[in-house]
Formats: sequence, C-alpha cells, structure tokens
Amino acid sequence: MKKILIAGTFLLVYILSSFIISHPLKKEGDEKGLKDYFAKYFTIGVAVSPRALQTDEAGLIVKEFNSITPENAMKMGPIHPRENEYYWKDADSIAAFARRNHIRIRGHNLCWHSQAPRWIFTNATGDTVSKEILLQRLKDHITTVVNRYKGTIYAWDVVNEAISDKPDEYLRNSPWLRICGEEYIAKAFQYAHEADPDALLFYNDYNEINPVKREKIYRLVKSLKDAGVPIHGIGLQGHWAINEPSEEELNKTFKQFSSLGLTIQVTELDISVYAKEHNARERMAEEQNTVFTPEKEAAQVEMYKRCFAVFKKYRKNISSVTFWNISDRSSWLDNFPVRGRKDYPLLFDKNLQRKKAYWEVVK
Ligand code: GLA
Repeated sequence: MKKILIAGTFLLVYILSSFIISHPLKKEGDEKGLKDYFAKYFTIGVAVSPRALQTDEAGLIVKEFNSITPENAMKMGPIHPRENEYYWKDADSIAAFARRNHIRIRGHNLCWHSQAPRWIFTNATGDTVSKEILLQRLKDHITTVVNRYKGTIYAWDVVNEAISDKPDEYLRNSPWLRICGEEYIAKAFQYAHEADPDALLFYNDYNEINPVKREKIYRLVKSLKDAGVPIHGIGLQGHWAINEPSEEELNKTFKQFSSLGLTIQVTELDISVYAKEHNARERMAEEQNTVFTPEKEAAQVEMYKRCFAVFKKYRKNISSVTFWNISDRSSWLDNFPVRGRKDYPLLFDKNLQRKKAYWEVVK
C-alpha cells in the first residue's frame, strides 16, 4: 500500500511538472502583446475609431498596442465641420482612452486634400478664398487642434499626401496647392510647431515604395529640412499587399529615407490578401469568393515576415509601426479598392484571435 502511495505521488509530481515545463511559453505568450515583443525595437500602434473603444476590441488594444492613431476623428472635415464650429466629442474620447491606459497618440492629420471641409476653401458666396485667408484659416485650425491635445499627442502627421501620383507631376494638384502654392506645406509645420514645440512633426504619404514617388517624397522632405522647417519625421503609410513590396523595394525605401537623418514611422500598415490596386473599381462577377484561404494566408504570412525583418533591420531609424485598423472584423480595405470585397489585412482575425502572421512576426 505504502509503495503504491509513493509511486502514485511520484506519478502525480511527474505529470504536474511536465505540464508546467511544457506550458510556460504559452503562458508567457498569452500575457505578452505586440508592444512587449517589440519593446526593444519600436512602438506598436493601431488606428482606432471611438466606437471600437467601447467594444471588446478595447481590451485587445490595451494588451497589444502602446500607441493609437484616430482613424478619422481628428481629420479636418470631421473635427472642424464649419468655420466657427469644432466637433471634439470623438477625438476627446480617444484622447481620454489613451490617457487612461497610458497609451501614446499619433495625431492624424492637420492638412490634407481629402476629408477637408468644403467651407475652408470658399467664402460665403461660394468663391475661392485668397491665399492670405486660406493660410489664416489653416493657422487657426492647426493652432486650435494642436493646443487642445498638447501634452497628450506626442506626434502629428502635419501634412498628408501632398505628393502627386502622376509620374511627371511633383506636388498634388490640390486646392491647397492651387490657392497657396507650395508654401502651405512649410507653413503648416510652422503653425504646428508654434502651437506645441514639443510635438514631433511628420510628413506622411503612401506608395513610398514606388521609386518615382519615393524620390519626390524624399525631395520634399529634404527641401523642408534644408530650409530649416520644423519637421522631425517621415511617415510611410505602408498600405501594402501580398504581392508587393519586394524585399529590394523595402530595403531601398528604408535606406533612402534613413539617409535624411529624421525618424521614420510606418504609420498605416496593412497587408491586403488581394494583389495591389491603386484605384477604386466595381466588383467583378468572378470575385464572389472572398474566403480567407490557406493560400491567401500563406502569402500574407510571407509578406508580414518580410516587412518586419526589414523593419527590424532599420530599427535605429524606425521609431514606430502602426497598423491601420485593429482586426479582420472590419477594415477600410473591405471597401477599397473594390466595394464590398472582404479583406483580411491585419494580425487579428474576426474573433480577435492572433493569426499565423502574428506568431511569425513576433518570432
Ligand atoms: C490614407 C489616409 C488615412 C486613411 C486611409 C484610408 O492613407 O492617410 O487617414 O483615410 O487613407 O483609410
């Protein structure tokens, strides 16, 4: 009897200890979030809506990320709908969430051709305003918004997407450019710096991996820096896909922007499971199958691995990587470039579970 008891005790101890030995990694993995895995490298951010912060996605954000970007709430149109009217509710709720949870905020954005309120370019009779009036309005807008979040927002995308996508055109032919000339870009940085001298100020753009566009972005940022404009960083959006960028494109991109001596942030990362397209179009009959197949998943895993390998390589120059949306539950890519075509671009699935790509990038 005594022997059986001793043998039984040994067996129990053996089973328990092998369970403990085989599970600590899993336990550690469960506690750590992306922000912890990359703590030695860069801040890990995510674009959020005020609504998401009231769902189960809030817990995931706090666990996985240490930076957030308001997806829309701080853009000029939503936050400043009429000349004498600001709409603070959404932006304030995001700022409060970040403060409560000790998460940093990247402000997005202060000057952009898209999602700008119509009133800003016109007067009461509908005519286009003068350069003086538009710059004054830009200054008022930037001063008011930056001041409100001073001390809460550590970095701002000051000017978004000012470069043209047309190969033979330098700056985008936007109302900002048509009314003010190139000067509006430097002015926006000056106004932001005056409002909060401690905030890091970024120029932010997409398709930075394309050699022609990249050269233009580089030229703009370099010219601002050389002219003594207060610019501290360059934001590379990183809306990529399973078929691009190549490793060579990535390396060239980070090498060239690193040479500017400014900090780099990847500001809007997502990897579509469809081949990259730049223009909106209708869904075609043969595009009914939008299942996240093992093939799509494998291709996405490879692209995520490639991107993070290069990010790590340039970790001295990259200070933050932000994902554009939280999980595959919903993202802007469900409606762009093809309306209603479900995409799966992120590291968390529809049930907020970590995807294969997650485990590959944290390896
Ligand atoms: C651009 C903008 C973002 C967002 C995305 C699409 O990248 O910078 O604010 O609008 O397009 O969601």
